[in-house]
Amino acid sequence: MAGSLEGQVALVTGASGGLGEHFARLLAREGAAVAVTARRLDRVQALAAELGGRALALQLDVADAAAIGPAMDEVERTLGPLSILVNNAGVGGEGLALEVSADDWDATFAVNVRGTFLAAREAARRMMASGVAERGDARIVNIASIASHTVLPGLAAYCASKAAVAMLTKSLAREWARRGIAVNALAPGYIETDINADCGPRRGGRGS
Ligand SMILES: NC(=O)c1ccc[n+]([C@@H]2O[C@H](COP(=O)([O-])OP(=O)(O)OC[C@H]3O[C@@H](n4cnc5c(N)ncnc54)[C@H](OP(=O)(O)O)[C@@H]3O)[C@@H](O)[C@H]2O)c1
Repeated sequence: MAGSLEGQVALVTGASGGLGEHFARLLAREGAAVAVTARRLDRVQALAAELGGRALALQLDVADAAAIGPAMDEVERTLGPLSILVNNAGVGGEGLALEVSADDWDATFAVNVRGTFLAAREAARRMMASGVAERGDARIVNIASIASHTVLPGLAAYCASKAAVAMLTKSLAREWARRGIAVNALAPGYIETDINADCGPRRGGRGS
């Protein structure tokens, strides 16, 4: 039986492990061609090899604004017009508010907020230009967090960044709904992955 996403082309950011790898596997299982991207190319290459012929591995650092367009060019050249973006790449942004440096704050926002926004906008422009949006297939899913609306102690930068992702999602959903693009967010609770290896229940903290 054909999967429910047969014919769709998906891109997952931060697919080198954790939730991103899981999302990529689900999309592929449902029949989508999947581009798996992250900074660690060896890991996404191994995942793409496992997923099979309709998967593509690409190195993409979403904090590098200039890299996002060329990566999507490559996805569309190889797999076809992009119809699904999973904005999953994220960093933990640990540090007490009294101690977090300006650079660490900026680094958290560069990935979690600016990277999410720039990838969403680049994808949206392409979905509109290719006719995917008009066809009703365009989906953008941003990975927010329980930290979007609940304080996780000691994670001020992370919590603020994920609250921004939640509001960004609402803003984009409102702006692009009439253009045929559905924008949604997932807000997971604690799931044991590398992101919370140092602060989750394993270490007595609350995790993200
Ligand atoms: N686990 C949880 O409890 C939980 C709860 C709520 C929300 N979330 C969110 O879920 C998402 C995935 O997190 P996870 O739990 O799966 O953690 P993870 O295992 O640490 O995965 C994070 C992923 O993001 C990628 N990444 C980090 N910086 C990047 C950058 N600059 N450019 C591109 N990719 C980057 C990492 O790949 P590379 O290092 O190879 O680039 C990795 O694949 C995050 O947005 C996180 O905030 C997680």
